[in-house]
Amino acid sequence: MQINPDGPKGYPVIGNLFDLAGPDRINWLQSVAQQYGDVSKFKLVTDDIYLINHPDLVKEILTKKSDNYTKNTLSFKVVKVVLGESTFTAMGDVWRRKRRLVQPSYQKRKIAALSTTITDTIAEMLEEWEVACDKKQTLNAAHEMMQVTLKVVVKSLFSTALSKEETQTVANVFTPLLDATNKRVSNPFQWVYKLPLASNKTYQKYINELDTIIFRIIKDRRKTTEPPMDLLQMLMDSEDEETGEPLTDEELRDEVMTVFIAGHETTANAMSWLWVLLSKHADVREKVEAEVAEVLGDRTPTPVDFPQLSYTLKVFKETMRLYPPVPILPRQVEENDTLGDYFIKGGNRIIFSPYLLHRHPDFWENPEVFDPHRFDKEAEIKQHSFAYLPFGGGSRICVGNHFAMMEAVFIAAMVTQRFKVVLPSNDIEPQISLTTRPKGGVPFTLERR
Ligand code: HEM
Repeated sequence: MQINPDGPKGYPVIGNLFDLAGPDRINWLQSVAQQYGDVSKFKLVTDDIYLINHPDLVKEILTKKSDNYTKNTLSFKVVKVVLGESTFTAMGDVWRRKRRLVQPSYQKRKIAALSTTITDTIAEMLEEWEVACDKKQTLNAAHEMMQVTLKVVVKSLFSTALSKEETQTVANVFTPLLDATNKRVSNPFQWVYKLPLASNKTYQKYINELDTIIFRIIKDRRKTTEPPMDLLQMLMDSEDEETGEPLTDEELRDEVMTVFIAGHETTANAMSWLWVLLSKHADVREKVEAEVAEVLGDRTPTPVDFPQLSYTLKVFKETMRLYPPVPILPRQVEENDTLGDYFIKGGNRIIFSPYLLHRHPDFWENPEVFDPHRFDKEAEIKQHSFAYLPFGGGSRICVGNHFAMMEAVFIAAMVTQRFKVVLPSNDIEPQISLTTRPKGGVPFTLERR
């Protein structure tokens, strides 16, 4: 028997628009899931939205039924304005070809080759922190982590190809571009972005500025006889196994923009939360300190050290359980379907939330408690693989996950070697939109260790 999912009725005409678009959306979704169960339904103006909150059903959506649950949704269309048709946004055969072409560049072995670039960039930040520590300055972890992860992706992509001016442009453009994109995704009145408003022109100007830089580098790189082995070069050298064709300049631009956008704010947010959680849990912080001292002493980490820094990685994973950088994921339902016993009508949207699944009481004991031992090998094996989705799942799982984990563990380790990050208050709320940001930032001071 098929069940038509139940859910909140909302207001006439707009339905639950203000609940889903409002700042308290995650608590509202949590209350809907609590009241209506694994599959619920509510209205957003003319569309029905299904909230799927069971890992078995999410697994179906992301694996065997992935062709019926596509990225043809409003948020991906908004993001496409910036990223173009990239591995992140493309669908069907176009996506399959791109994924085949880019995936080899993100393998562990290839990422290992970028490790010195990553650690050099972190070391540069720490030099600045030495000065801030002497001056007893208050820094903001949200800002610091955003800057360092942006520099890491820029240098991993382009080595030293960016001029000083271009580096400055990238740094200036990114925060407003990301903020505006976050806002656009939450706005159901998308027609406003077609109007000739100054804000829309500025948005396009940011994209154009980045495009100019990216195309300049690609063009120069095509003429170089001895190119550096950075991520851009790996992507340029990649050839389709079936056709032998490489990515075109346009396609390279879209992949580069994707690494810029998908590859830095996510890691930055998770790292900001990591400092909040370590500040709340001195016992965990001390264990990280002990592991870093034992594995590295004063040495800079290398890829060989990464598997040894296993407790630090567990801390990062548990941080992403409580504060998944991508809190809500949408899909478009192409054809009518049945999920569990529930009827899902084609032409509508489903959403599922790593944030909610990571706190689902049927799959996590004491879900609100921060406990890195959940990621001990034996415990991890017992977890439902779709109850923990910081990187998504199925064939469209994040292609940059090894990159992100190595970078995060290296940042945590290198900061810990030198400093204790001290927060005046660790009572920080999440601000949920496209990403899970710490509301109001994360002010901190530094103490030398
Ligand atoms: C902690 C850091 C990161 C998190 C939490 C994260 C999260 C995610 C998630 C949830 C998805 C799946 C989206 C969906 O299915 O709708 C995804 C896809 C993707 N991510 Fe990441 N990401 C991170 C870092 C990175 C990095 C560092 C890169 C690149 C260097 C990257 C590149 C991508 C790409 C290209 C996709 C699209 C994959 C596909 O659809 O085939 N991400 N990421």
